[in-house]
Amino acid sequence: MAFDSPDVQNYARGLEGVIAAISAISAIDGQEGKLVYRGIDIESLAEHSTFEETTYLLMFGDLPTRDELANFTMDLKEKRDVPHEIIDILEKLPHDAHPMDILKTAISALGTFDPDKDSDTRGSRIRKAIRIIAQVPTIVAYTHRISEGLEIIPPSKKFSHAKNFLYMVSGEEPNERDAKIFDIALILHADHGLNASTFSSLVTISTLSDIYSAITSAVGTLKGPLHGGANERVLDMLAEIGTPDNVENYIKEAVEKKKKIMGFGHRVYRAYDPRARILRKYAEMLATERNERSCCEMANRIEAVMKELFEEKGIFPNVDFYSGVVYRWFGIPKRLFTPVFAIGRVSGWVSHVLEYLQANRIFRPRAIYNGPIDVEYIPIEERS
Ligand SMILES: CC(C)(COP(=O)(O)OP(=O)(O)OC[C@H]1O[C@@H](n2cnc3c(N)ncnc32)[C@H](O)[C@@H]1OP(=O)(O)O)[C@@H](O)C(=O)NCCC(=O)NCCS
Repeated sequence: MAFDSPDVQNYARGLEGVIAAISAISAIDGQEGKLVYRGIDIESLAEHSTFEETTYLLMFGDLPTRDELANFTMDLKEKRDVPHEIIDILEKLPHDAHPMDILKTAISALGTFDPDKDSDTRGSRIRKAIRIIAQVPTIVAYTHRISEGLEIIPPSKKFSHAKNFLYMVSGEEPNERDAKIFDIALILHADHGLNASTFSSLVTISTLSDIYSAITSAVGTLKGPLHGGANERVLDMLAEIGTPDNVENYIKEAVEKKKKIMGFGHRVYRAYDPRARILRKYAEMLATERNERSCCEMANRIEAVMKELFEEKGIFPNVDFYSGVVYRWFGIPKRLFTPVFAIGRVSGWVSHVLEYLQANRIFRPRAIYNGPIDVEYIPIEERS
């Protein structure tokens, strides 16, 4: 009998180095610490673009014309409201459940209300994708307000995607500068090659399942602390460390115990993550402006200790190290950090799903079987 036992030499733990798709959406130069979306470097997009424009770029391949952008932005604004049944679901779920678990459930439920749910044309997939991008921030903000026992604040069509989210969370209109920084954070999170959550969305869509199922898979994958969940853990770590003077002992002790330092390391980067570099600049700026530098000083010292320990191994801060430090200044609570990551990354997820479907093939890797063979079945009455 020939069992499933592929060549051991082909085994790549965690699929490291495996090429699983062809994509024209984003690319990472891990040695140089560079990231491009559709060929445009992330620094230029952070400086000149908006989340809406970047989303268009990721989804359709080119920067939009003025009219295309105006139509796309209007479409996103008009699709922000969620069906009232979704609000009922959010109210019924345990208010202490993690917002990522609620988001996963809500996206899955949203699919059942989509007016295009029975259609699978490219046009209907694009409409569904735009509805998901538009509605994820509404779900996240409602989840927060409901868990705090506050009235929900419906989306406002006056505001950009980023500004509207901050408004729905706090009930106050943020100033343009803060909304811009938050918009930049969304741009920085919008896509990142074949990361774990994007890959899981592709695995799901590759069976010709629907886009809501693919995004539900992605949200569940993003939640983990080795992926999007790291940003929340970074703030836990900073709180545990307490003061800059405690940094060195804390980090060295944690590393000795083989603990992973959250917000550091990456499968692809062997250099400073360019997204972390941009967020670091804003974290510093906001801390100095508010004259509350303790968090940034701790972060700087953590970087210095990690550099001493790990520079040779190529372990540097990643996007999650500074994102939470920035979000705190906008009144975004820690439990929303990973859902905020999803608000940005959903643009990348849908873009990859739409792209993959154009040349779909079901994902079906194999495992090396290392279990027993020729085991005899023992009837239950004879088992000891
Ligand atoms: C991102 C991450 C999951 C990448 O994992 P990976 O590619 O499988 O890398 P590995 O876990 O195999 O790490 C390689 C080596 O670096 C070490 N390392 C990697 N990240 C580390 C970290 N954050 N802190 C301490 N050591 C780390 C590992 O312990 C391992 O050491 P070893 O060779 O002695 O066993 C990993 O760096 C990590 O867990 N980081 C913390 C979580 C995080 O910030 N995630 C957000 C990513 S954007």
